[in-house]
Amino acid sequence: MKLWGSRFGKDTSGKFLNFESSLKFDFRLAPYDIEVNRAWAKMLNRIEILTDGELKKILTALNDVSADFEKGRLASDGAFEDIHTLIEDRLFTYAGSAAKKLPAGRSRNELVSTDVRLYLRDRIDYILGEIKGLQRRFLASATRYARTVMPSFTHLQPATPVTAGHLIMSYFWRFERDKKFLKFTRERVNVMPLGAGAAGGSTLPLDTEFLMNELLFGACAENSIDAASTRDFVLLFLEASCIIQIHLSGICEDMILFSTPYFGYIKLPEEYSTGSSLMPQKRNPDAFELVRGKTGRIIGNLNAIMNLLKGLPSGYNRDLQEDKPPLFDSIDQMTEILEIFPSVFSAVEFNEQRLKESISNGEICAQAMAEFLATKGVPFRNAHEIIGRIARDNETLKRKMSDLKLTDLKAYSECFSLEVIPLLEPEGVLKQLATPSSPSPLKFEQQLRMAYEALEE
Ligand code: ARG
Repeated sequence: MKLWGSRFGKDTSGKFLNFESSLKFDFRLAPYDIEVNRAWAKMLNRIEILTDGELKKILTALNDVSADFEKGRLASDGAFEDIHTLIEDRLFTYAGSAAKKLPAGRSRNELVSTDVRLYLRDRIDYILGEIKGLQRRFLASATRYARTVMPSFTHLQPATPVTAGHLIMSYFWRFERDKKFLKFTRERVNVMPLGAGAAGGSTLPLDTEFLMNELLFGACAENSIDAASTRDFVLLFLEASCIIQIHLSGICEDMILFSTPYFGYIKLPEEYSTGSSLMPQKRNPDAFELVRGKTGRIIGNLNAIMNLLKGLPSGYNRDLQEDKPPLFDSIDQMTEILEIFPSVFSAVEFNEQRLKESISNGEICAQAMAEFLATKGVPFRNAHEIIGRIARDNETLKRKMSDLKLTDLKAYSECFSLEVIPLLEPEGVLKQLATPSSPSPLKFEQQLRMAYEALEE
């Protein structure tokens, strides 16, 4: 079935029809296309293009098509350009000539954009729920490891003492921002293009206000050319998905590094790890590697759409059909990832003993010791220099920070006093951290409270 052709003298080549058809990938839009058709039929009835009888027939037929879809019977047994054509064809089968009135004033250009927006709106709501679930897991793990001391890193070198809980909470906040971005994206998705026609609207008195309410859109597009052809909302969603993936990928990188024997910071969950077909001793972090790897694919999908859109002339162009495979792939990949990642992460076990050992020489107390001297009137740059010398001597003398007595310290600066002793151990430093975002036990508790509040919003 074709929705056009009377001005053509020759038949479409079968091979070309197969090539140009988007049915292979837009089939999933069927429920949304049916929903839009339902609203459209009701609206045409209000403006007296469809009689009550015709409306009834069409609505019944739409239910039949919907049931066919749900039972997996909405198969395409002919050549159709896309899901919109297939559904129009089925409606004709069920409702007869009444179905031929339904497309009045409407183009597939606005229809496809409307369908994708409705679909994407649903998927965003689902993804938002999954992210919230992931954040709850982070909160649970962060609470579990609230007192597990470990180093923070810069340049992947030990920096200052933190807790595993604090690191895990750093993951939590990334996704708090991602949710905001997704909600903003949802607003931009939730704009109705209907009424745009193919590019320049329609002479029919279409009731767009009614359509908007029926389909629960938040706003109506302002300009028909823009409405029928913009894919900004696809771009925004793919940008959001790239950021989410980059966040996940970073966590994966941490876990992969921490699981090597050289770090030994975490134990990989066996139920989510794999072995080697050749090397019997192996336990590999494939779950984390796959999420990291899929990130490349998801970034590639954004790239594909940016390249697709760049340089298109105004108005609908068939190129736009190619927006769907990358968009749907990113949605599918992310859905799969978000459905497994929280369980994988929750099953990770931090090795407290090993974390403690890795910072036992006390070097990561250096900043706090220099800050101590600063409170005693030593200019910070001088304090920095003094502690640097202590660290260097510790290395040569194979001495730990906590081996130092006050008398040893006094040899470096008269400004040291007994109060510095707790700062020679990571736990002591943690207790004295004073800034709001720091991992001191008190501030960390406040951070957890803020996180719970954020989740309740
Ligand atoms: N299948 C097309 C798409 O996905 C929509 C149909 C518009 N076709 C057309 N010839 N104007 O973008």
